[in-house]
Amino acid sequence: MKGLKLRACAVQPLGLLMLTFASLSTALSLPSWPRPTSLRGSDLQRRQRSNSSTPSAISIAPSQYWEGNDGPWSTFPLQIGSGSVGGLQNVRVLVSTAATAIWTIGAEGCPNGYVNSCPDSRGGLFLRNQSLTWAPDSIFQTGLEMNLGLDSSGYVGFDVATLGWQGSGAEVTDQHATVWNMADPRYWIGVFGMNPRPTNLSDFNDPQTSFMQKLFESKKIPSVSYGYTAGNQYRADGYYGSLTLGGYDPNRFVENDVSFPFDEDISRDLSVNLHSITTSTGLPSDLLPDGSISIFIDSTVPEIWLPESACNAFESAFGLTYNTSIGRYLVSSSTRQRLLSENPDVTFTIGPINGGSKGKTVDITLPYRAFDLHLSFPIIPNDYNGTTHYFPLQRAANDTQYTLGRTFLQEAYLIADYEHQNFSISQCDWSQKAAGNDQDVVSIISPQLKASQSSSNPDSDSSLSAGAIAGVAIGVVALIAVLGAALVFIRRRKKADKKRAAELEAKENFADEDSAEPKVGPISEPIGGELGGGEIHEAPLTQMRPEMESGRDGVEKYGYSEMDGRGHVIEMDGKGYTAEMPGSAAVLEMPGSEGRVFERDLKRGARPPPDEKSEGGWI
Ligand SMILES: *[C@@H]1O[C@H](CO)[C@@H](O)[C@H](O)[C@H]1NC(C)=O
Ligand SMILES: *[C@@H]1O[C@H](CO)[C@@H](O)[C@H](O)[C@H]1NC(C)=O
Ligand SMILES: *[C@@H]1O[C@H](CO)[C@@H](O)[C@H](O)[C@H]1NC(C)=O
Ligand SMILES: *[C@@H]1O[C@H](CO)[C@@H](O)[C@H](O)[C@H]1NC(C)=O
Repeated sequence: MKGLKLRACAVQPLGLLMLTFASLSTALSLPSWPRPTSLRGSDLQRRQRSNSSTPSAISIAPSQYWEGNDGPWSTFPLQIGSGSVGGLQNVRVLVSTAATAIWTIGAEGCPNGYVNSCPDSRGGLFLRNQSLTWAPDSIFQTGLEMNLGLDSSGYVGFDVATLGWQGSGAEVTDQHATVWNMADPRYWIGVFGMNPRPTNLSDFNDPQTSFMQKLFESKKIPSVSYGYTAGNQYRADGYYGSLTLGGYDPNRFVENDVSFPFDEDISRDLSVNLHSITTSTGLPSDLLPDGSISIFIDSTVPEIWLPESACNAFESAFGLTYNTSIGRYLVSSSTRQRLLSENPDVTFTIGPINGGSKGKTVDITLPYRAFDLHLSFPIIPNDYNGTTHYFPLQRAANDTQYTLGRTFLQEAYLIADYEHQNFSISQCDWSQKAAGNDQDVVSIISPQLKASQSSSNPDSDSSLSAGAIAGVAIGVVALIAVLGAALVFIRRRKKADKKRAAELEAKENFADEDSAEPKVGPISEPIGGELGGGEIHEAPLTQMRPEMESGRDGVEKYGYSEMDGRGHVIEMDGKGYTAEMPGSAAVLEMPGSEGRVFERDLKRGARPPPDEKSEGGWI
């Protein structure tokens, strides 16, 4: 230190001052000194990280639960919150290929007297007042499924979130995940959003980086990509959903050579051209009589939304009747028995959006049992055990509603590659798993990562010339010599304390490195600074009414009880909801389907205990 200071002084008097301050601040552990040094430190770290081996894709283990009130569906474990009053909160969520954030179910989703074991049936609740790291935000609309009249809203905040089993070694964490906390009964179980686009809350100037993007940027996964299939309960003992981040599981599907480009409309990126739907048994066999349509693959919703002519064809082929009051194709037990024994296949032939009618296509075949799903409360008011069977088909009002929901992904494997802006859809292969080939992982390496690695690591190129190799060898020898000298120096310094000053003079370079070390070492990154700091967004995506805002204040000050007491929790009356939330008005206008379901859900299924005041809306 002494030698260094002297030298610095000789160079520049101001330097002495700065360095003195530097040593002082290191000694006193002042947090934020000095900016350039800590930048240098993180640069060093970054270089070290990029030199280390490329991260591999991560396979997320399923929760091993089958659940939902329109399934059964396979869920994934998510831990949320930290340092919390009640510890980490474990919930189970579905995979959403369209959402960009996490949706959890809040305490408002299970009001008193709602349904037995409500929290568990909803995959567990996230009680935001129990998390010390929850940074509350405002109420925002999710901005998703508006085309289906299923837009929702809820409290949005930031918290620590871990997908996968804690401690399994295959879990991934975002310290500052964007989390919705909702009560909407139409999304009975929360979701984990796989779409890596940033979430825009107040405006487009403050995008919240997605979980997936952060995983890639922190070198936890090799690319912004994933492989997913929803799994199904009807084959063998059931195959849980399979989710791989930064790659895919090659054992889960039959490979094909069709690559789909993302749609230009980024909100419908996973769109395909549906050429035909055919069935093996049943008349008519052509279930898409009016020709091909562009359709969006979206695992957020269970159903398949098709043009009315296609729905009519399904009705006559399988003897289905649409129940307008429930808003679903309910299947009576006699029809169900007949269909299960006939076991008709349904084949979806899909191709790339711009592939034309003669382009390459893929066939995805679903056995009848993929459509043999059941409904329960609150969709069916008095059915708590899922004894009501339904066929997951919906009539689309227009082409914005064409959707291949989660039902389709029971038999299809999706690889979405946000690096190359393309995706693939393949028929699931269950034989491999049956044969014991349980799980495999193939990484998709980002071109960006490849480029940065070869540029930061030019010597690692395998095609080194002999001269280069000799050069490297000499370099290595020289490095060893220098290290040896350093070692000798350090030993000597320890032994001969009295000669220290003289030796420092003689070997200034080493002294430099020595003293530089502690400055680079502790990088003062703000811990939890993001969570604590001013991340509160006041202007909501869609403006909510004043009562909601005051409800928010109540939550910040008093926690849940304030909310409950004010009755903001549930709006049971369809009128209030639409009147107050313009974004959802479409719900009640949709002819023939969801609108009525929704109204009915609210009126019948989700009615609160009679003593509860109803002035708010589903949040
Ligand atoms: C948020 O805004 C950015 C532009 O600032 C855009 O690229 C992104 O797609 C938007 N995200 C969503 C979910 O719409
Ligand atoms: C995406 O495009 C790349 C480059 O053309 C190709 O190697 C890859 O297989 C494609 N991926 C998918 C999922 O279609
Ligand atoms: C958190 O909210 C729940 C649900 O409203 C309530 O029962 C509980 O008492 C609250 N806990 C705290 C610590 O405020
Ligand atoms: C499609 O139908 C929905 C529901 O009826 C409606 O809200 C929406 O405006 C329609 N979109 C177009 C482009 O016609």
